[in-house]
Amino acid sequence: MPENWSPAELTVNEKNDALYSRTVLARLYTPVVIRFSHRFAWRVSNSVLHRNHREHIGQTHVTVGPGNGYFLSKVPADARLRTLHLLDINRTCLDITEARMRDRCEVHTHEQDALKPWPLADASVDSVDSHMVMHTFRGNSIHAKAALVAEAARVLKPGGRFFGCTILSEGTGIRKNWLARRLMAVYNGRKNTFSNAGDSADDLRAVLEKHFAPGNVDFRVDGCVGIWVVTR
Ligand SMILES: C[S@@+](CC[C@H](N)C(=O)[O-])C[C@H]1O[C@@H](n2cnc3c(N)ncnc32)[C@H](O)[C@@H]1O
Repeated sequence: MPENWSPAELTVNEKNDALYSRTVLARLYTPVVIRFSHRFAWRVSNSVLHRNHREHIGQTHVTVGPGNGYFLSKVPADARLRTLHLLDINRTCLDITEARMRDRCEVHTHEQDALKPWPLADASVDSVDSHMVMHTFRGNSIHAKAALVAEAARVLKPGGRFFGCTILSEGTGIRKNWLARRLMAVYNGRKNTFSNAGDSADDLRAVLEKHFAPGNVDFRVDGCVGIWVVTR
């Protein structure tokens, strides 16, 4: 990061090939981010993320921001999944996850910003997930990132599920330990890593309730992670 970089310089989402390189995704992402940071900094149990995938994945599924495909690769073999759409701004994330999943279902990749309209028809898929992605989108608050929720609602069939989680800075129920505060400050100061200084749990719940009926929103906070399962 150049020393004189300021967050205001990056207002739209951009690729981050250095962070999501083949080496980082294959060797570092699982031990450092999924096994260490989830547990010790953000205080979310990976068993919750595994359960989300296991219980809510449908026959035609969209994953927004698959990373290295770790959670998808652990979905039990007898799950309903038949067709998988992967949507990601970074090509390497798509390639690595496609390679991990192509033996078990039909995989389509879409290289694009998740806040732009998705190349999928209205009411065409059974489930959508987006885990640990929203906090990386540019924007001063969750409201600036609401297009993710709006697109999920648009492409889901009635009864379809949208499930996911994101790291939040503030709001009801958010608890940040020393490590979470330290890492959030570093990642928000690093170009194109986090942008969640204005993301609140209350705004996220409100955005989910705006695009899905409030009675269909299951939202909770673990540590500083907002976790949702909503039904179309
Ligand atoms: C922190 S990783 C999470 C990976 C995975 N979901 C997991 O939980 O292990 C963030 C993912 O979101 C993707 N991503 C970041 N910004 C994006 C954007 N604007 N549009 C689409 N994908 C994006 C990254 O390329 C990466 O795959």
